[in-house]
Amino acid sequence: MTPIVISALSGLDLLATAVILVDNADILCHMNPAAENLLELSHSHVVGQSITSVFADHEVLAAALKYARKNNCSFSEHDLMIAVSGRPRMHFACTVTPIERSSAFDVDGCLVEFRQIDQQLRIAREERVFDQGVANRELMRNLAHEIKNPLGGIRGAAQLLERELENPALHEYTQVIMKEADRLQALMARLLAPHRIAQPAHVNIHEVLERVRSVLLAEYQKEIAIQRDYDVSLPDVYGDVEQLIQAVLNVARNAAQALTEAPGNNNAAPAQITLKTRAARQVTLARKRYRHAIEVSIIDNGPGIPAEIGERVFYPLVTGRAEGSGLGLTIAQNFVSQHNGTLTFESAPGRTCFTLLLPVADAPNHAVS
Ligand SMILES: Nc1ncnc2c1ncn2[C@@H]1O[C@H](COP(=O)(O)OP(=O)(O)OP(=O)(O)O)[C@@H](O)[C@H]1O
Ligand SMILES: [Mg+2]
Repeated sequence: MTPIVISALSGLDLLATAVILVDNADILCHMNPAAENLLELSHSHVVGQSITSVFADHEVLAAALKYARKNNCSFSEHDLMIAVSGRPRMHFACTVTPIERSSAFDVDGCLVEFRQIDQQLRIAREERVFDQGVANRELMRNLAHEIKNPLGGIRGAAQLLERELENPALHEYTQVIMKEADRLQALMARLLAPHRIAQPAHVNIHEVLERVRSVLLAEYQKEIAIQRDYDVSLPDVYGDVEQLIQAVLNVARNAAQALTEAPGNNNAAPAQITLKTRAARQVTLARKRYRHAIEVSIIDNGPGIPAEIGERVFYPLVTGRAEGSGLGLTIAQNFVSQHNGTLTFESAPGRTCFTLLLPVADAPNHAVS
């Protein structure tokens, strides 16, 4: 059999890692397809150009190239922020390796290998949120189970006691016991949601958002403006419409409450919530890869999630509101996980964005994966 001979440059093109080849005058000589994808650049447009004109904020990259050449050794830079063609800056780690002109490469220069850190951080965060969701559900089940059982007994005993009490003034105390037992029962019922069996069907995500929008408009009337930024070409998701409405409503209602109730929300901008939908491609949800997904963002311009709550927002009973029970987001995440989706957030004063990713699938048996 004739051996297959692959030149060094076409070898680079077979790599999944993003690699560019830069000569000693900092001119870009080659860019492999993985780098074209990652940097969203076309090989034919950038080859022959200086890295200073291809990358904005090129100083750190230029310094890494200079160091590797001067010391004739590989150099790794773990904190490289560069922007390409006016797009937002991206966070990379890169390794620069000097090469000499040879039969493999016809230039003296450096190979630069890029790894996107944002992506690694995002994947690590998604994994964490997923594990946290599983732990939450376990905790909820155990907690609710332990509290629910004795509650019935406590309430029943208080009722019997009330009947035996001759002095009606003492009924006040038995009433307190019964009311508090009822309040805890209701809390446990929410913790153990869903109370009804899920009824999966094809669901248009915009119908879900429109229902949420009308509920919020009725509750908050003129206090909040709700913007719609929909991609109406999106396909249906397969799921339980009531659970999806409840999940989005819990998130959106938090946004409305933060905009109208939070102390220190003296934001000069008018209170606004944006409901946005987009198509997402090649996403990993619940450790499974999907070709297509739907991204729903619920964005508000409120004060942001209190720093002391931070990542714990999804834990049960974590609340920043005097009136809150801290279950809204736990339940929302629970419902979203049941749809094999993820619920994540980014928050800073003036912009909080909750993102719900749901896989697009015809039906469970025909999951697009
Ligand atoms: N968009 C947001 N802006 C600011 N803070 C938020 C936002 N969303 C959630 N939070 C914070 O996260 C906390 C937890 O939210 P979660 O919905 O789980 O519980 P809750 O709203 O306090 O109570 P419940 O929803 O059970 O009535 C909230 O109390 C609030 O402090
Ligand atoms: Mg809430």
